[in-house]
Amino acid sequence: MSAIAGEVGTLRLGSPPPLLTLIALVLTGSLSAHAATDNSLAAPDGFAAISVVAARSAALFTELGKVLTSPRCLNCHPAGDRPRQGDGGRLHQPPVFRGTDGFGLASMRCSTCHGSANFAPARMPGHPAWHLAPQEMQWEAKTLGEICR
Ligand code: HEC
Ligand code: HEC
Repeated sequence: MSAIAGEVGTLRLGSPPPLLTLIALVLTGSLSAHAATDNSLAAPDGFAAISVVAARSAALFTELGKVLTSPRCLNCHPAGDRPRQGDGGRLHQPPVFRGTDGFGLASMRCSTCHGSANFAPARMPGHPAWHLAPQEMQWEAKTLGEICR
């Protein structure tokens, strides 16, 4: 990923990357869902120098993919039916499951613990609609190319 980040980062300097390289990387899944380690993002202006529209689109999506595949986002967009926690993406403890509507099993709803807002004293994140993303958004299981499609 850092090689890609470096490549995307140099776009600002105006040298277009080889189109096929970028697209091939996205399509073959070299950008795996867990690879994001760099928190910096290139500004949209930095892509203006890429004149081939498809290449610019691929570069922009590759860049925003750093956010989509960051561990804290994947925690609610996991491959299976259990959310994950923290920067390391450990399986949610206590064990909780998607349930039919994403809001948990009848016996253990997300709202049992997650309130309508964050509760800092307990380091407890919250939101009125706190629940797992739907199965078609299981980005942990997908390459960036698959997420894009
Ligand atoms: C608390 C769980 C949770 C976390 C954390 C979370 N998501 Fe989601 N996300 C959801 C749910 C649930 C949906 C589906 C919303 C719906 O169907 O209305 C969703 C949908 C989305 C969508 C699709 C929106 C659309 O209109 O199609 C995007 C994009 C997205 N999330 C990005 C992110 C990003 C980026 C992060 C991290 C910054 C993130 N999510 C973290 C639960 C979460
Ligand atoms: C029995 C209580 C309980 C239930 C029920 C529960 N959670 Fe949690 N959850 C927690 C606690 C406590 C934390 C914070 C742990 C920590 O990081 O310190 C947490 C953290 C999380 C995180 C990590 C947030 C982050 O930023 O890393 C996600 C995602 C999450 N829960 C999703 C869910 C979903 C989705 C459900 C319902 C299917 C749910 N939880 C049900 C107790 C619960």
